[in-house]
Amino acid sequence: MDRARDAREGRPAAPDGLPPPGVVITSGSAWGGDRGRLAALLYEGYAKKAAALRVDEATALALLAEALNLGRCFVAVRGDRPVGVVGLVEGRARALDFPFVLVRRHFGVLRSIAYSLLLNVRKRSRPAADELFFESLAVSPGERNQGIGTRLVQHVEEYARKMGYRSVGLEVTDSNHTAIRLYSRLGYAIVKTRRYPFVTRRAGFSGNHEMRKRV
Ligand SMILES: CC(C)(COP(=O)(O)OP(=O)(O)OC[C@H]1O[C@@H](n2cnc3c(N)ncnc32)[C@H](O)[C@@H]1OP(=O)(O)O)[C@@H](O)C(=O)NCCC(=O)NCCS
Repeated sequence: MDRARDAREGRPAAPDGLPPPGVVITSGSAWGGDRGRLAALLYEGYAKKAAALRVDEATALALLAEALNLGRCFVAVRGDRPVGVVGLVEGRARALDFPFVLVRRHFGVLRSIAYSLLLNVRKRSRPAADELFFESLAVSPGERNQGIGTRLVQHVEEYARKMGYRSVGLEVTDSNHTAIRLYSRLGYAIVKTRRYPFVTRRAGFSGNHEMRKRV
């Protein structure tokens, strides 16, 4: 983190390892807030992907709210407002799960089959037994560049150490330079790149990097 540049650009500095003033990080189950608000937060971060799949906002919000497993999330909260979220993938359990029956509630048969295949592409990369993955990191647009995303990732790393995992991994689209810069700054390195030729171009990327850090 370049504190001199932060100061020049007028960004508030939080002490190392702490979220910015007024923001606390809690587990999703302890938070117990409205999952619809978390779905909206995720939608803001991933709207381009939803649009590329031709899913309208109302449907995407309903699907996300149902797919969310709060017990696998950490939430950054300001007052009663969620301002950031990150999801965990531990073995087969994940923060966002899209089983076919859920997808089918929102779409016809053919689209459900196609979307289930696309949404579950994520499952191709599954963490090893001694590894924790995270996914679905998102910070509200008005709350970015204050260290909340950094702090959420560090929170995941602390949890990983506490639970005895040896490394933390994630997938990020190859065009998401903001996120890649954040992860690189925190010590994550690209270990694998997968190319996905379908749909992804419309969503502005051509593949995913898998990044990993030993903790
Ligand atoms: C990627 C994303 C989560 C980053 O969240 P964020 O809260 O803005 O992240 P941070 O504030 O920690 O870091 C962003 C920048 O602010 C800087 N910053 C400013 N004040 C800071 C502080 N007090 N502490 C730490 N970093 C600070 C960081 O150094 C960083 O600069 P950099 O771009 O040169 O690395 C956010 O942009 C987002 O939600 N994007 C859409 C969804 C998405 O792409 N998610 C990732 C999918 S893998």
